Amino acid sequence: MHIRPRRNRRTPAIRSLVRENVLTPADFILPLFLHEDAVNTPIASMPGVTRWSLEGLVKEAGEAHALGVPAVVLFPKIEEGLKTPLAEECHNDDGLVPRAIRALKAAHPTLCVITDVALDPYNSDGHDGVVQRDERGELQILNDETVEILCQQALCHARAGADIVSPSDMMDGRVAALRSALDADGFDQVSILSYSAKYASAFYGPFRGALDSAPKEGDKKTYQMDCGNAREAIREVMLDEAEGADMVMVKPAGPYLDIIARVRESTTLPVAAYQVSGEYLMIESAAAAGWVDGKAVALESLMGIKRAGADMILTYYAKRASEWLKA
Ligand code: PBG
Repeated sequence: MHIRPRRNRRTPAIRSLVRENVLTPADFILPLFLHEDAVNTPIASMPGVTRWSLEGLVKEAGEAHALGVPAVVLFPKIEEGLKTPLAEECHNDDGLVPRAIRALKAAHPTLCVITDVALDPYNSDGHDGVVQRDERGELQILNDETVEILCQQALCHARAGADIVSPSDMMDGRVAALRSALDADGFDQVSILSYSAKYASAFYGPFRGALDSAPKEGDKKTYQMDCGNAREAIREVMLDEAEGADMVMVKPAGPYLDIIARVRESTTLPVAAYQVSGEYLMIESAAAAGWVDGKAVALESLMGIKRAGADMILTYYAKRASEWLKA
């Protein structure tokens, strides 16, 4: 036998020479939850994940950054009393997110701060856009009215010092609108990371529990994508690229590795993938039950996402995985 592939697997040294993909902390973006309270609170629907006070947030982000994680993305829990049909709180310059951005940039100038642009934490209806009831009593999510509010939200984040704004709402035309709004106000250096292919996914359940942001009525299927579709993801990515997105995202990640791979082939833009709350908890719960080795499975899941073509991964494991990779 002349050809023996196992020779390339014979020793750790040879395996490290021929390894095609390597995970590093520089691949990770850490999602961080925050609230107005002065204490850090464990999130009941997401064991192992914390909702931070402003002070706790700054400390946690600093620790992750020190481990080599370049970026964080912020998800606020907004008090019920501040939620309105038009989500006005989302562009309040003294709101929770702008204050958090300013505190993070002051404490960690080299940390990249990413913000989520969508109405759901602020909207009394729990949808990513403005809700209207039509003549037949059915809920409509108003696209163009929503995009105007998203622009105000993104500008508010840019004024506070966000490096990247990340629209996760899936309204049509929002990337072009955000780009124009940012440029018109002198924020041509603020990047747009677009959730281009965001599926209507049951894997987001624990996240909505963390923010109390589940839709009060109906679902998100008129704006988030149908899980049976792949070509449509490419269409969304092409539109976002043409509209001026700097980076595109696929979400969720693990059950959509084929989409990550196809998106990677169809654009030269950097591709992000979001390992969402349900993916994280499937691993965590199996590990807690003693059924799998949590560390090994988590790192393998992240490597799978990278191998599929992701340049960066949003993951609740960002900090822990960085510690594991250092060890
Ligand atoms: C909302 C948003 C969601 C997530 C990130 N941004 C939930 C949703 O669309 O309902 C989910 C993240 C996760 O599940 O970890 N704009």
